[in-house]
Amino acid sequence: MRRRIIAANWKMNKNYQQGLELASEVIQIVADEVNGNAEVVLAVPFIHLQAVTRLAASNSRIAVAAQNCSTETEGAYTGETSAGQIASTGARYVLVGHSERREYFNEDGVVLMRKIEQTLQASMAPIFCCGEPLSIRDQGQENKFVASQLNDVLSTYPKADLHRLVLAYEPIWAIGTGRTATAAQAQAMHAHIRTVLTDLFGENAAQLIPILYGGSVKASNAVELFAQPDIDGGLVGGASLQSREFANICKA
Ligand code: PGA
Repeated sequence: MRRRIIAANWKMNKNYQQGLELASEVIQIVADEVNGNAEVVLAVPFIHLQAVTRLAASNSRIAVAAQNCSTETEGAYTGETSAGQIASTGARYVLVGHSERREYFNEDGVVLMRKIEQTLQASMAPIFCCGEPLSIRDQGQENKFVASQLNDVLSTYPKADLHRLVLAYEPIWAIGTGRTATAAQAQAMHAHIRTVLTDLFGENAAQLIPILYGGSVKASNAVELFAQPDIDGGLVGGASLQSREFANICKA
C-alpha cells in the first residue's frame, strides 16, 4: 500500500496572522471531519513554519513543509534558509523543483539535486515536482520531457532514502489556470512516471513512491483524480487557501 498525501501549497500568500488563522481552521476541520489515513502536509512560507508546526503537533496526520531550501548548509548566504534551519522548526518536508522556482528563479537539475541532498541530510523528505509546459504537450513530447526532468535529478538519489521520496506531477498548463488535466491524462503521466522510477530504482521501490497530482485540483475534481490507480494524492495551490475547500479535497 502506498501512502496517500494531500499537500497544500500556499505559495507566497498569507501574512503571519492570516496564516495562523488558516492553519488553525484546516487543522481543526481535518481533525473533526477527515477520516482515513491520508497524510495532510501544509507547505507554508518560511515565516509560518514554526507556528504552524506547533499548531499541527496535536495531530500526527498533519505535517509541515517548506516550499524551498538553500543549496548550502550554512554560512554567508544572505537571505537564504538552510534545510537544517527548516528542520529545526519541526517541518518534515521540502518542496523541491516547483515549476515556479524552475522558471522564475532559474533552478536547474544541478541546483535541484543539491536541494534534495540538503533536505535528506537534514532528515526531511523531498516532494520533488515535475511537469511539462503547454508547448511540449502540444508537440506530444511530454513523456520524454518529464522523464528527463526525473533522470536529471534522481539518478544519484540514494537508495537508502527512497522511503522518504515523494513526487508531484504538475503540468504547467494546469497550474493556477483552472484548466485541470483530465483524470485520464493525469493517470497516463503518473503511470509513465512510475515506469521511469522503475528503471531508476527497481519495481518494488517504484511501487512504494507516492506520486501526487497538482494543477487546479479542487473539491469538484479531486474524487475522480484520486480514484486513478497511480495518483496517490494532490499538491493543491489556490484551493488550499480556503479551509473548507481544502478540507473537502482532503475528504476526497
Ligand atoms: P494550483 O497550484 O492548485 O493553484 O493550480 C498547484 C501548485 O502550483 O502547486
